[in-house]
Amino acid sequence: MKIIVTGGAGFIGGNFVHYMLSEHPEDRIVCLDQLTYAGNMETLAPVADHPNFRFVRADIADRESVFPLFEQEQPDAVVHFAAESHVDRSIENPGIFLKTNVIGTGVLMDASLQFKVKRFHQVSTDEVYGDLPLDRPDLFFTEQTPLHTSSPYSASKAAADLLALSYFRTYGLPVTVSRCSNNYGPYHFPEKLIPLMITNALRDIPLPVYGTGENVRDWLYVIDHCRAIDRILRAGSPGEVYNVGGHNERTNLQVVRTIVERLGKSTDLITFVTDRPGHDRRYAIDPTKISESLGWEPTTRFEQGIDLTIQWYLENRNWWERIINGEYREYYEKMYGKR
Ligand code: NAD
Ligand code: DAU
Repeated sequence: MKIIVTGGAGFIGGNFVHYMLSEHPEDRIVCLDQLTYAGNMETLAPVADHPNFRFVRADIADRESVFPLFEQEQPDAVVHFAAESHVDRSIENPGIFLKTNVIGTGVLMDASLQFKVKRFHQVSTDEVYGDLPLDRPDLFFTEQTPLHTSSPYSASKAAADLLALSYFRTYGLPVTVSRCSNNYGPYHFPEKLIPLMITNALRDIPLPVYGTGENVRDWLYVIDHCRAIDRILRAGSPGEVYNVGGHNERTNLQVVRTIVERLGKSTDLITFVTDRPGHDRRYAIDPTKISESLGWEPTTRFEQGIDLTIQWYLENRNWWERIINGEYREYYEKMYGKR
């Protein structure tokens, strides 16, 4: 198979590129990434010399770049990760989320139609379902849960999902969609909860918990997500949506306390700060469909995954120190300076 992977220099896309070249070295992987603040060539350094890997820097919303690439590569499949992905940034600046997440997805699908791609996989998120109440642990997101978004980020992802499914119904483009819960693991940009807490704790600086810290997220180790996408790509049915998650719910405070404890730091570092506007209370995925129809099950429990993740950040200080010493400083000051 020849696969165009968009957003492969980011967190999940980067892990997916590594996973695919190791599990299916016969497949050709062409990574299309604009290298925004979230893209990092160092994430791709371990595969840069692989004979079946090519990197192309371009904006997915730019037809003049995307169509010639599809014409040249004639891909069998597109796995579409590229997105603006951070909720807090979407609250500050929604416009770029519409351009990349909606227009960019449309451009990729137009190219996929023209060049007769056999599968377009849209990597989506459980955030399109909105949130669940904290006092109803019996409720979960299924594929039938109505879309009900809270942030400009989740609204842009929901728009992209609906656009993708419309290309299946209207034009017959073989689209699949996966909606996954919160990922964690190596190469996670330090603006997100887990890597932010690890990298702050390692520098003995405050750990900013929004609101009361009671919001719940359903954590999945990134490689389990990559395995799920690989299953869907090879055995999933066009037109179908698959929820991906592993029943690993934790409050934010539980996650932060686990990190503090594993690193042997003081809980005094935990600081409660002003809440995120529109903050979703609880996410929880029901993965029955992907489990029963495709035989996918998560393999890494949270206790094991968080240890692997902390170990990776301890062993790869260069990767994250270069980020936090760059433009991230201004971002951090703006978001947390007066919070
Ligand atoms: P990320 O922010 O780490 O990486 C995004 C990548 O996309 C970067 O490499 C960036 O350079 C690239 N990109 C951004 N705009 C682009 C553009 N216009 N053209 C080309 N490339 C562009 O994101 P992530 O956390 O790895 O998320 C990847 C995908 O998975 C997203 O679609 C996200 O919605 C989805 N998702 C994420 C999670 C999670 O927990 N992180 C969970 C479920 C789904
Ligand atoms: O559920 C999947 C989604 O998970 C993905 O679609 C998004 O791309 C990804 O960013 C993630 O969204 P969240 O908003 O859940 O992740 P984030 O790491 O930003 O925040 C996780 C929780 O931690 C959330 O309740 C907000 C809280 N938080 C976050 C940060 C950055 C804090 O308390 N303090 C922080 O500094």
